[in-house]
Amino acid sequence: MTMPLLKLTDINKSFGPIDVLHDISLDVRRGEVLCLLGDNGAGKSTLIKILSGVHKPTSGRIELDGKSVAFDSPRDASDHGIATVHQFGGTFPLMSIGRSFFVGAEPTRRWGPLKIYDRRRANEIAVKEMRELGITRITDGDRLVGGLSGGERQALAIARAVHFGASVLILDEPTAALGVKEAAHVLRIVLQARQKGIAVIFITHNVVHAMTVGDHFAVLIRGSKAADFRKGELSREEITDLMAGGDHMAELEAEIASYLVTREGHSPSPAG
Ligand SMILES: Nc1ncnc2c1ncn2[C@@H]1O[C@H](COP(=O)(O)OP(=O)(O)OP(=O)(O)O)[C@@H](O)[C@H]1O
Ligand SMILES: [Mg+2]
Repeated sequence: MTMPLLKLTDINKSFGPIDVLHDISLDVRRGEVLCLLGDNGAGKSTLIKILSGVHKPTSGRIELDGKSVAFDSPRDASDHGIATVHQFGGTFPLMSIGRSFFVGAEPTRRWGPLKIYDRRRANEIAVKEMRELGITRITDGDRLVGGLSGGERQALAIARAVHFGASVLILDEPTAALGVKEAAHVLRIVLQARQKGIAVIFITHNVVHAMTVGDHFAVLIRGSKAADFRKGELSREEITDLMAGGDHMAELEAEIASYLVTREGHSPSPAG
């Protein structure tokens, strides 16, 4: 097996007194989809914000292509080839498709003389890159991003990452707000990115989506890695059970019961 492109070792993250991540170790290889699964509040977004330069880890090590790295900013992470499509937003509704494709990503050396304000060229490239991912309905790069469907917006963000040569693509719940057909399209695009040799980190609550595209899976429960396995090692039912976490469910039920009791304004009697 090839060497991991991105490797995390014992990542911890606290916000003041709140410990959010505990000793997370993970890795992902080129041409592999790592699915990060876990319930609400498990720490998935926090972990990927560390990888995308939004947060600094409290402790732990990040290695990219065998070298230790520390990201000072989102720009720094993206300069290292890590492209992130965050859970909420990431696109700009009032911008044209062409503009949003290039925003914050000034032409790189590879694109030499290309000017960021060359509207026609920007539109052409954006439309062409989306077409390559199977989004053929969009032919006018002047259209506003706000008028795109959720799946098309995800495709735009992924096309952008591919175009700028990202080696790691992180997608935080890209299918969460989508209908069945649109989600399927986004999953197909994820597989295309994988085929291009990109290391993909795919965050989802949806076990079916994860199993459709994932090569490697990690489950976070309350900030700790509860499981790490490869395709075929666990069934869908086993993964679903893991994500729900037996003790977690019991705790939740107890919490709800105690809330109901408080609301009723009396304390529970042993007899019930
Ligand atoms: N800046 C912050 N300050 C304090 N606590 C935070 C901060 N960011 C996240 N948290 C806490 O960290 C925990 C994990 O949050 P996170 O957003 O990473 O979860 P998640 O797994 O992405 O959840 P979801 O599936 O709902 O998106 C939550 O309890 C959250 O309140
Ligand atoms: Mg999240």
